[in-house]
Amino acid sequence: MNLESLPTNGISGKVICPGDKSISQRILIIGSLLNCDIKISGFLDAQDPNSTMMALNNLGSLIKKDKNLVSISHRSKPFSDPNFFLDLGNSGTGIRLLTGFLSGLNIEATLIGDESLSKRPMSRIVDPLRLMGKEISTNSGKTPIQIKGGNIKDNFEYVMPIASAQVKSCLMLASLSSGNSIKITEPKVTRDHTERMIEYLDGSLEITESSQGKTIFLKKSKLSEISTYDVVGDFSSAAFIIVAALISKNSEVLIKNVGLNTTRSGLLEVLFKMNANIEIVNKRKTCNEDCGDMIIKSSKLEGINVPDSIIPNIIDEIPILSIAASFAEGQTTIKNASELKVKESDRLHATSMGLEAMGIRHDLLEDGLIIYGTQDDVDICEEIDSFGDHRIAMSFLVAGLRSKNGVKVKNCNNIETSFPNFSKIMNNLGTNINE
Ligand code: S3P
Repeated sequence: MNLESLPTNGISGKVICPGDKSISQRILIIGSLLNCDIKISGFLDAQDPNSTMMALNNLGSLIKKDKNLVSISHRSKPFSDPNFFLDLGNSGTGIRLLTGFLSGLNIEATLIGDESLSKRPMSRIVDPLRLMGKEISTNSGKTPIQIKGGNIKDNFEYVMPIASAQVKSCLMLASLSSGNSIKITEPKVTRDHTERMIEYLDGSLEITESSQGKTIFLKKSKLSEISTYDVVGDFSSAAFIIVAALISKNSEVLIKNVGLNTTRSGLLEVLFKMNANIEIVNKRKTCNEDCGDMIIKSSKLEGINVPDSIIPNIIDEIPILSIAASFAEGQTTIKNASELKVKESDRLHATSMGLEAMGIRHDLLEDGLIIYGTQDDVDICEEIDSFGDHRIAMSFLVAGLRSKNGVKVKNCNNIETSFPNFSKIMNNLGTNINE
């Protein structure tokens, strides 16, 4: 599906933030481990969490979905080896977290994904899982991942060579589901939803900071049962609405129930430095996650040098930050972001191609981008390729708001993986995004 986004005179109104994708997947996995009756509200009913749900049901979980209300029921039988391949579709979080979870449960299974997921690196989880005692094979570090045998060791210690919450969570889930303890040090702080959920369920976690980074010590834990869980809104989805309001004139938007976990919401810090007019109200905590409502108004943005240390906390927001930077005064520099090359697409390349089509002057670096912003609306004559990547597609559809004659973005189907009803929600605020 291709989409076209036409220019607008501004967006306004109120929107409820779609549920958080990372947290939706984690509560399905950890909730299944608890093995009690749980009602989940605020769940993100999108392809990625749904493929994780189907995979868990193929192992024996009893998860049912009725629109946004999901229920996990108590199982009378233990988890068992699935009869067929577990297909995680487009979901890096799904495949990596489940590989850890199943390794700990001593399940034998083969995990696969779609064309994009099949190109993404899996050695980052398989190598430490092998060190932890598992026998796992891959296709030269890519899918299929075949979990064969072996037992997870107790007291495993690991220093993360790359900043990745998926790797950290994979290893924590392997220890948790096998009933063992683990100590992980991350030199760069990544999203901590797994830690927060385990803490919320009274798991035994000790977190310390040192010159080497943050060390997470998960001790043998018996988690407490819960009967409800409320998923906060996804900051990464809110980011598209935030930037749309900031770059279009005469805009004022209220986004309700946005997750504000600081390991996730680094884009806010960056946008504040760029002079964004954003007010956060009604701050609160839901199931051990910070959240609040946000009022965003049109702003005269200024380019900045994005600090290296914040990159892991804005990793999914860099494509949409590039759009904000395109309409900011002066230059914005993003470095140390080579992880973007192994996301759903090579996001550095995809962003650069889109900026090129928009006529935005920029330098594509080995590990980032330098973007020279413009105050003018842009003429986008060529179609922009999303490379099948949801976040690239939504970023350039937002850019269309500041185009002279609109923009056509190719291959937008995967918006469904993270933000169903994106066009409808945006159009309710005043955009004009259509097939
Ligand atoms: C995620 C972690 C991030 C992020 C992804 C979701 C998670 O990936 O890009 O969209 O749910 O843990 P990495 O941790 O591999 O950087």
